[in-house]
Formats: sequence, C-alpha cells, structure tokens
Amino acid sequence: MSKHDLPQLPGLRGKTITLGVCGGIAAYKSAELVRLLIKQGCTVHVVMTPSATQFIQPLTFQALSGRPVHVSQWPEGNNDRGMPHIDLSRTADCLLIAPATANSIAKYANGLADNLLDNLVLARNCHLLIAPAMNVEMWNNPATQRNLQQLRQDGVHIAGPASGEQACGEVGSGRMLEADEIVYELARALNPKPLAGKMILLTAGPTFEAIDPVRGITNRSTGKMGYAMAQAAWLMGAQVQVVSGPVGGKSSELTQYGLEIVPVESAKDMHLQVMQAIQTGLVDVFIGVAAVADYGIKNPSTHKQKKIDNADTQTIGLKIDFELNPDILADVGQWSNDNQRRTTVVGFAAETQNMHEYALKKLSSKKADFIIGNLAQHALGAADTQLTLFGTKLTQGLELEHLPKLDAALKVLEIIQQTT
Ligand SMILES: Cc1cc2nc3c(=O)[nH]c(=O)nc-3n(C[C@H](O)[C@H](O)[C@H](O)COP(=O)(O)O)c2cc1C
Repeated sequence: MSKHDLPQLPGLRGKTITLGVCGGIAAYKSAELVRLLIKQGCTVHVVMTPSATQFIQPLTFQALSGRPVHVSQWPEGNNDRGMPHIDLSRTADCLLIAPATANSIAKYANGLADNLLDNLVLARNCHLLIAPAMNVEMWNNPATQRNLQQLRQDGVHIAGPASGEQACGEVGSGRMLEADEIVYELARALNPKPLAGKMILLTAGPTFEAIDPVRGITNRSTGKMGYAMAQAAWLMGAQVQVVSGPVGGKSSELTQYGLEIVPVESAKDMHLQVMQAIQTGLVDVFIGVAAVADYGIKNPSTHKQKKIDNADTQTIGLKIDFELNPDILADVGQWSNDNQRRTTVVGFAAETQNMHEYALKKLSSKKADFIIGNLAQHALGAADTQLTLFGTKLTQGLELEHLPKLDAALKVLEIIQQTT
C-alpha cells in the first residue's frame, strides 16, 4: 500500500464515524486510521473496550480526533441524557471496528453486550464495518469462522484480514489491514455501488518494447489515469482486473488496493492477457487506458548489444527493425461486435492536437462504445486532468471539468454507466 497521503475518496467528506477499538496489538494502527479519517473530512468519535486501554491510551485518540474518548457504558456526570450506549451509534453514518478481536466478534455474532462498544453494535441503526485482527490460529478456529459467517449473514461488512508475519511471530491470516486500506474499504461501503456485480477489465501504464535484455523503448505514461479509473470502478462496486504495464518505478504512489493486477511488459503480452480475459465472455466493460506502443522490436537481441563505435565515419552501427503491434482496442471492439456487443468497449485517446477529430475517428475505426479524449501534454503524469467523453450518442463530445484524476474517473464512469 501507498505511503503517500490518500486522495480525497468519495463518500467520506462530512461523514460521522464511530470508531470502535478492541484489545489487540493492532490497536496502534487505529491511531493512524483516525488521522486519515480526519484528513478525509470525517468527524470521528472513538469508543474503546476496557481491554483496548491496556494497549493504547485513550489520550492518543482524544488528541487525534479532537474529541473525548468513550470507554464506560455508564453515564459520566449529569450533562447528557445518560444513554451513551445508544447515542453514539445514532449520530454515526458508520460504526467501524478496528481492530475487532476474536472475543468481540463472538459477542457481536451472538448479540452479547457487556461493554459500551458491544451495546453500540447491538443498538446501531447504521452500517457496521469490522476489521478483524488476531493470531492465525484464533482466526482459523472454527468458532471464529462460524461467528464471522453469522455476521456476514447479518449484513455486516468484513474488511480483511491480510496475511503475513504477525506481532506474535507466527505467519498467516489475521493481520489487520493497514489504516489506508481500511479507509478505502470504508469509502466503498459508504459509496453508492452502481457497478456492483460488474466485471471491469482495464489496461494501464506504458508498455516496454525490449531491444535487448537491458534496453527498450517505452513512453511517458505513469499509470495514474488507468489506476484512478480502476480505483473508481472498485469504489463504485465493480470487480476490477488491471492488465498493467511496468509502472513500479514511475508511480510508487499508485493505489492497488482492491484491484487484481496482471503485470505485463510488451504490447504483445498485454494483448494476450486482455484477449484471454475478454474471450471468457465475463467482462462487462473493457477500458483501454494504457499507452500501448504501436510498434514493437522485430527480433530483439537475446544478448546485450555492444557499442559499435565507428569513430572514423561518425556513424552509429546500430540498426533496429520495427514491426506493427497488435491493436488491443480494435480487437476487443471486433470481439464485442461479433458477440452481440457483450462487452462495453471504452478507449482513451491522448492527443496533442485535433482531439475531437481523432477521438471520433477512433470511436468508429475501433468499434468502441466510448472514447475518452484528453490532451497528452497536460495529462501525462499529472495529478489532475480534463476529460472529454465521446460516444455513439455523444458525437459532440461531453467536456468534463478539470478534476483530480480519481474524481474525473468517477464522473466518467457514472456517465458511461447511465448511458449504456
Ligand atoms: C498482548 C496481547 C495481545 C493480544 N492480541 C489480540 C489480538 O490481536 N486479537 C485478539 O482477538 N485478541 C488479542 N488478545 C486477547 C484479547 O485482548 C482478549 O481476548 C480480550 O478479552 C479482548 O477484549 P475485547 O474484545 O473486549 O477488546 C491479546 C491479548 C494480549 C495479552
């Protein structure tokens, strides 16, 4: 996950979150969670179980949330109506429990309520999202799995856990998700999901055409737009697969959480992976965002090419033959055409001039349903973009505002979803 601050996620600004913290080692991660939620524009009320106070001081959460922290289910003083076990869930848009211990999960599954947080869970009339955290054997215990199954049946959203090395030294499932991953899960839980049940396949990033094992030809695409589209589709409820060109070194801030990534290098590899997925007939929407090389290298060298220095003639002895790469968007468009337009086909056109004309040409020549135009010189590598949407019913082009890439992606997907 990214170490950078998160972009503003949809569905979070202005929301009130009651964050329940149970008694597990991962309680320290919840301090960062509060910080991220506040940065997203949420109001956060923290409720701790008595056990949680053994792991982290309420004062930490009080300082980060800017509000008193609640631990006792018994009213403190005479200045409220004496019902904290109900009130804190009435004011919340979501009750988020992170970490959720095996003990508390068992209580929620069975309706037990002998501390303030349990009571809030039982008395809630809002979303409940829990992020379990526990030792791998506690997680695998049939009792825990039975309890989680019960909670799923009750409509509770369960985020994670992740797998890996644990605080106790053992390895396996049970690690709490990272704070930023929980924020993504929360945004998805609170966001409307018009793409629920849809399978969306995207390409993202540049391609790399090898000349020899160490050199190659690539382009300036960073993957930011492709990953923003993928993230937006996931936040809108879709299942998302990204066939991604090599973006690692260029954009380490790309968020991959929630996405299934298929890494590829060349345009030919990308074409192969995309067509395999498309031909299953399971893809509802294909979005080609990657900057795919039109030409690949014919017969790349299997060994590193040595410098040929014709000092006397000042000429370079290196000769590279190019060949035409397969056209991914055109092949997906043709496949969809041959299969009753099974897949909605969306392409990007990053142009430096004549965007309107080139986008419309691309729309018909690739048999696409939509082409999203943007000016390459402004969009490549930038955090923001200005998109124009062209479609069979949008031949004039629908110009969107200049927006951060995630917001632009959400907007464009919303229009595509409403127009298809
Ligand atoms: C050092 C230590 C670490 C613990 N870590 C966890 C944990 O990560 N997950 C868990 O489910 N229980 C953990 N426990 C056990 C819980 O603290 C214990 O079940 C407690 O009763 C949970 O109370 P609560 O669910 O009311 O917060 C840990 C206990 C200790 C002493």
